[in-house]
Amino acid sequence: MARWIYVIGGLLVTVAFSVFLFYSVRAFNLTPDRPSASYKAPDYRFVLVTEEVDNDYWRLVEKGARAAAEKHHVSLQYTGPKQANLDEHMKMIEMAAASKVDGIIAQGLNQEVSPTIINRVLEKGIPFLTIDTDAPESKRVAYVGTDNYYAGFLAGQALLKDTEGEVKVGIITGRFDSANQKLRVEGFKDAIKGSDRVNVVAIAESQITRIQAAEKTYEMIKDYPDVNAFYGTSALDAIGIVQVLESIGMTDRVYVIGFDVLPETLQLLKEGKLEATVEQKPYEMGYDAVELMIQVLEGDKVSTYHHTMTDVMRQKDLTQTETMTPGGMKQQ
Ligand code: BGC
Repeated sequence: MARWIYVIGGLLVTVAFSVFLFYSVRAFNLTPDRPSASYKAPDYRFVLVTEEVDNDYWRLVEKGARAAAEKHHVSLQYTGPKQANLDEHMKMIEMAAASKVDGIIAQGLNQEVSPTIINRVLEKGIPFLTIDTDAPESKRVAYVGTDNYYAGFLAGQALLKDTEGEVKVGIITGRFDSANQKLRVEGFKDAIKGSDRVNVVAIAESQITRIQAAEKTYEMIKDYPDVNAFYGTSALDAIGIVQVLESIGMTDRVYVIGFDVLPETLQLLKEGKLEATVEQKPYEMGYDAVELMIQVLEGDKVSTYHHTMTDVMRQKDLTQTETMTPGGMKQQ
């Protein structure tokens, strides 16, 4: 009997001690410091610095970049000036570098300034990819985006093909000092060079805003009343051009070719107020740039040029637009 009392007593003491231990551990949080099962720190931190943070075109680039970042467990910061501003853009790149991120993706916006800033980032050991606008004079690891000279050349060829007789072209370009805008103008001029019926009569800057694109179009029509074609080289330019032509009842008499396939651009094409637009792939640019940066960080050898698709879109190509999302991405 006495033996049973000892056995039961021993058991009770063991159970009591285990309960005590369990609650003590919980109360004092004595478990080893382990993150909860649902949290896993991101593998990398990237920053995407854009020309203008709320620009519809850049929001498409962001969308693509975020999709790739989510897929690969990367933390992505999307940033850029409220309104296009070269100094601010460069400062934001330097700030990203100072915060020691794993990779920076940004435009090589300016041929003079960008190479210095990009090379400084690289000296800190942070890989840099150019997106949308290249800076070939810098040591950037690679470029993801449109071949901008070729895209401009396509625009010139399209205008030649779509028009007859004497054509006087007004060009509205995003910014005179942006490398991609310069190349789009250069490519266009080279394409029409051989023709003696098509000439550029004026060129003005929109600061990549639709309001200034409209203002400059209006001034150009006043200064050159015989202008009968417009070429807009950044995403919102053609939208601003058409706005003016509509307000003065000139859409039927003037040929307009623009850039990009934002929802509004597609609508203008559909309504026949815009003759053609050069399509770019902003979503893919963002997506591919994030994937490429991961490959760079993992030591893969990558090629320097990753040109995304570009082509001319006219109204007759719109049959499938219902199945397309802005930025030209086909829906799954
Ligand atoms: C260009 C971008 C630019 C944007 C402005 C696009 O066509 O590729 O570089 O920032 O237009 O709206």
